[in-house]
Amino acid sequence: MRMTVIGTGYLGATHAACMAELGHEVLGVDVDPNKIESLEKGDLPFYEPGLPELVRRHVESGKLRFTTDYAEAAEFANLHFIGVGTPQIKGSHAADISYVNAVIESLVPKLSGDHVILGKSTVPVGTAAELQKRCDELTGERADVEVAWNPEFLREGHAVDDTLRPDRMVLGLNRERVAAGTSRAEDAARECFASILETDTPFIVSDLATAELVKVSANAFLATKISFINAVSEICETTGADVTVLADAIGLDPRIGRKFLNAGLGFGGGCLPKDIRAFSARAGELGADQAMSFLREVDAINMRRREKMVGLVKETFGGNALGHQVAVLGAAFKPNSDDVRDSPALSIAGQLALAGADVRVYDPQAMGNARHVFPTLDYRDSIEDALRGVEVVIVATEWDDFRQIDPVVAGEWVADKRVIDGRNCLPVEDWVDAGWDVSCLGRGVTPQ
Ligand SMILES: NC(=O)c1ccc[n+]([C@@H]2O[C@H](COP(=O)([O-])OP(=O)(O)OC[C@H]3O[C@@H](n4cnc5c(N)ncnc54)[C@H](O)[C@@H]3O)[C@@H](O)[C@H]2O)c1
Repeated sequence: MRMTVIGTGYLGATHAACMAELGHEVLGVDVDPNKIESLEKGDLPFYEPGLPELVRRHVESGKLRFTTDYAEAAEFANLHFIGVGTPQIKGSHAADISYVNAVIESLVPKLSGDHVILGKSTVPVGTAAELQKRCDELTGERADVEVAWNPEFLREGHAVDDTLRPDRMVLGLNRERVAAGTSRAEDAARECFASILETDTPFIVSDLATAELVKVSANAFLATKISFINAVSEICETTGADVTVLADAIGLDPRIGRKFLNAGLGFGGGCLPKDIRAFSARAGELGADQAMSFLREVDAINMRRREKMVGLVKETFGGNALGHQVAVLGAAFKPNSDDVRDSPALSIAGQLALAGADVRVYDPQAMGNARHVFPTLDYRDSIEDALRGVEVVIVATEWDDFRQIDPVVAGEWVADKRVIDGRNCLPVEDWVDAGWDVSCLGRGVTPQ
């Protein structure tokens, strides 16, 4: 099949390359000429394991091309995916859907014939129905454009695998079109994803609103699970209990499960924080404010973890971090990603710098993005360089590189052997044996 993927960021570039991998002819469309230029050369402007190889292979095979030209996109295919950003509006909790609207305004007037648009961006419930109305206004007799929603569940760091082998696919269809027998989106999606569906991947077909809500509900649930364990960890900190043992114990109950019960600095990134805020903002607009008000608490618990970490570091220095040497290991919001959007690691580094600490930061992949967001921090080129002479080390992102640090060797680099494990990811006994003073979020006492 031929298709366009509009918006070639984390989601769109991955989707475009994976659709080429499934054998389709794909045109990636973006408004950012620099991004398009580097993708055309097979270079990725962000880090995602396995994706550069896939992009290069299909750029070379000719199955994957990129453009900034909407006229070319309109000519190229009758199936269009939308993967543009839906960030939080500044000064509000709502999602900014202006980029999604802009795609419709740029693409639809150029279309003729029958087209299907499958939205993948995460949008507030009701968006797709509004987009369908706008498409109908823009097309008149010239074209028939159907809007359906196919939310994306990929995880950064596992994006290629998640796209090629998803645990489920969801497709929201316009009820009126289905009832009138004029809906073509399900056939288009089934043809496009045929090889994925052949492997018995669950394919859930719903109305538009349900599909939109599936995505935000999934993220709200995951965020709630993380904030739940972090709220419990606050109690562990005051009672001397150990949240990691507690999480193992409750996680063995199959109704609960161990995943997403890692206490620590909490969640960040380009999705969870803004999606829970947008969900509760949308609930408010719909007059159902109470239904999602608990998400404000989920958000607050999450943000408190960052304050807790900053407080712990200050406590280390008798309440004042001014002039003290601190190393923050990690800048990305999670390992195997270079995404620093709403990153707890970078937020802590920034807050400590504002409190007057001399903060060095090292991350295996996210240094470029971090420099861009927080240019005034002292970025170092290696773990050793970041640790030399510091008085406290903070592990803020659970990269394997940090788990694997030899505490004996690292002990030679620092001024004081003091580490705060913000992700409960270090082999604590090894560090304690090597003479380090170890503090962990959610574990009341320094584990021995
Ligand atoms: N990143 C993820 O892991 C992930 C996972 C699931 C869902 N999502 C959702 O996918 C959407 C995109 O997220 P992302 O992380 O890829 O964002 P991103 O910021 O990395 O990419 C968005 C891209 O859209 C482009 N764009 C903006 N306006 C455009 C326009 N009018 N026409 C063409 N291109 C345009 C931008 O230049 C950018 O390249 C969001 O709604 C997000 O919530 C993201």
